[in-house]
This record gives sequence, C-alpha cells and structure tokens, in this order.
Amino acid sequence: MGQLHTRAYRNVPIVYPELGITPELVIAADTAPDRVEFARDVLGYGRGTTDYREVLADPEVEVVSICAPNFLHAEIGVAAAEAGKHFWIEKPVGRSLEETARIEAAATKAGVITSIGYNYRHAPAVEHARALIAAGRLGRITNVRAAFFSGYANEPRGALSWRFNRELAGSGVLADLFSHASDLCQYVVGPIAELTALTSTVYTERPKLAMGSGTHFDVIEGGEMGAVENEDYAAALVRFGSDSQGAGAVGTIEASRVIVGPSCGYQLEVYGTEGSVKWDFERMNELQIRIGRGGEEPGYVTVNANPKHGDYSHFQPGPGNSMGFDDLKTIEAKKFLLAVAGGPAENSNVHDALSAAATVTAAEVSAASGQWQKLEPVAGTTASRITAG
Ligand SMILES: NC(=O)c1ccc[n+]([C@@H]2O[C@H](COP(=O)([O-])OP(=O)(O)OC[C@H]3O[C@@H](n4cnc5c(N)ncnc54)[C@H](O)[C@@H]3O)[C@@H](O)[C@H]2O)c1
Repeated sequence: MGQLHTRAYRNVPIVYPELGITPELVIAADTAPDRVEFARDVLGYGRGTTDYREVLADPEVEVVSICAPNFLHAEIGVAAAEAGKHFWIEKPVGRSLEETARIEAAATKAGVITSIGYNYRHAPAVEHARALIAAGRLGRITNVRAAFFSGYANEPRGALSWRFNRELAGSGVLADLFSHASDLCQYVVGPIAELTALTSTVYTERPKLAMGSGTHFDVIEGGEMGAVENEDYAAALVRFGSDSQGAGAVGTIEASRVIVGPSCGYQLEVYGTEGSVKWDFERMNELQIRIGRGGEEPGYVTVNANPKHGDYSHFQPGPGNSMGFDDLKTIEAKKFLLAVAGGPAENSNVHDALSAAATVTAAEVSAASGQWQKLEPVAGTTASRITAG
C-alpha cells in the first residue's frame, strides 16, 4: 500500500493539472531497511528512515500516508494528529472500535484532514449507482447484497502474514474485507442501524512469514506452521436506519479471504421498488442497470463507465476504456489533497472509519452471542442519507 499511495501522489498533478497540487515526496519510513532503500531510490522520496517518528517530526512534511500493518494504526494515527499532520490512513483504521475511536478523537481535536483507504467508493460505476439511488431512480430501496469474495488466502499453505494474527491485525476478514463492504453499503445506501452475523475459520494453521517480507499472496512450501487466530469468512444480515437513503431496507454482507473462484470478486447489488443496479469489482467499469418493469426486453442493461460517471473523464476520454485499481487510489489521493488545500470535502474521513469499525465490532459480538446488535449513529460521516425534499 505504501507503494500504491506513492504512485497515487505522483499521478495527482498529471491527472488533475487544473488543481495545481504537486506533492513532494519528502521522507518515507519502513522498519525493513531494503524497503527504505526502495522508497528512496525507486519511488523517489528525498530521504528514508526506519523510524516513522522522524517522518512526523519533519517540519517539511504536511501530510502523511499511514500504510503500516493494522496494529500500528492507532499509535501512528494519534501521533500524526498530535503532530498536526493531515493523514490518509489505510483501513481498517485501528484493530477495534476503541482504537478507531481514539484515532477519531485525536484527529478531531487536532483539526487535521483525514482520508481512509476506501478505494472502491471511487469507481465511476459505483459513483453512478450512488447518484441513481440518491435521485430516487430505483424507487424505495428494499434490499442490498454485498459480497467481497477474495481468494488471496485460498491456498492452504498461503503465508501466515500479520493479517492472521489477532494482536497484529485485530479481526480477520471482518477487518480486512467486510470493513470495505460495510463502508460501501453505507456510502451508497446509507447508515446501517443493526446487524447480526456469523463467522468461520476454514484453515486453522499456516506457514509463518516474517514481517516486512513477501506479501499476503505468498505460498510457502515447508516452513514452520503457526495458528490462524481470526476468521476467514463472515456474513451479516443488516437493516438500514431511518435516516438512510435506503430507509427500511435490509440486506446481506458477506466476505471471504479463502474463496476458490472469484479472485477479487466484490459485488454490490441494490434493489428498489422501481429498479436495481449490480456492480462487481472484477468488471469494475461496468454497471448493470434495470429500471422499470415489463416491456418486451426485460433484463439488465450493461452500461459502460463513461465521462459522465464520477472522475472517469480525468482518465479516459470516451466510454468503455477500462480504468484500474491504481486509478481508484489516484482519485482517493486527489480527494484527500483537495480537502487539505481547502477545496470541497469529497474525501472519506475518520468518522466513516468509526462507523465501519462499529459494524465490524457488532459483527464480532453478534457472531459470538448470536444476538442482533444495534449501531449508534456516527456524526460527520459521508454515508448516503435522505436529503431534504
Ligand atoms: N485499501 C485497500 O484496498 C487495501 C489493500 C491492501 C492493504 N490495505 C491495508 O494497508 C495496510 C498495509 O497492508 P499491506 O498489504 O501493504 O501490508 P504489507 O505487510 O505488505 O506492508 C506493510 C509494511 O509496513 C512495514 N512496517 C511494519 N512495521 C512498521 C513500522 N513500525 N514503521 C513503518 N513501517 C512498518 C512493513 O515492513 C511492510 O513493509 C493494512 O492496514 C491493510 O489493511 C488496504
């Protein structure tokens, strides 16, 4: 993620020249010395360090990206806020609701601008789906289906990276993928008011991988085995709140990191009384739309992402030219830096992170107790809400 944030910062002045924002890559930190060298020599940072505190103490640094493993998010996020640095932090923001609340409180107190790694929000087809729902084109929203099915850990000998360790990651697929999906549901449809969930762990041990080496896609033959301490699969039944654009709607959110089939399948389906939309990240540049009933040609129309959707026109001049994952991060960097520069607040923020963390914690509690969990409304989020009129 550190590399990807960097590529995104570098792209901003090229993709959005009209903003006049040109980030300078001042200093990068990683505890792995070879990654510090890479940051300096390949990514183009002026300096490198193995101590993130040097980054936060540097008076030349105005904004920071926090892309370390989850267990460091609270420590670095709070320290960044206290140092007065605006920060773009990866999800999940903190390992628990309590850690996320600490980061939110510190950022709010310091008055720094924040942005969260909820990249899927920025897909032009998703932005278009959100606009259709807000305009009432689907009628009253009745039900939502989100499923984030990634196969990154579907090999039984897939590496035991920090993601599988409760101390280092917090929860498993709930923190990693479910948090993306609950954020996307809230961004597109509105705040979730209550949920019930279940979880399961498919592979209980895996070969160990040292921090700062390889990736969570690595497969290791032989090697010492260690315990998987968090869940591989999660599912929730959700009910949207009365202030939600989808007031009265219900839905399901599923997430798996061990699925065999989809590689990065991420489906969002929103159904209303007058129509529905379907999107899948593996076909990121398409939106399936059905509006109205009857007619001689029932079924979905496949709409190509095009310059009328979201930020598409900044990347491609005409419909049907595919954008990719990196482009979503460039849009995220632009929204963050634009807000820092005093422009409109199009960025996701720490309040969104708190709201997503609340869904994760509620799902963990519900999976253990079997009980429905109510979610407290969170102020300041960018969730889709019923607007006046
Ligand atoms: N938004 C997304 O779609 C998305 C995708 C992947 C990862 N992520 C998130 O990004 C974060 C990083 O994930 P990743 O896959 O890049 O992990 P990674 O393990 O590949 O990289 C983490 C890096 O942090 C370094 N590190 C460890 N301790 C450090 C410290 N004290 N100071 C500085 N650096 C330190 C490691 O050496 C490593 O280079 C996680 O929170 C993850 O959930 C988000």
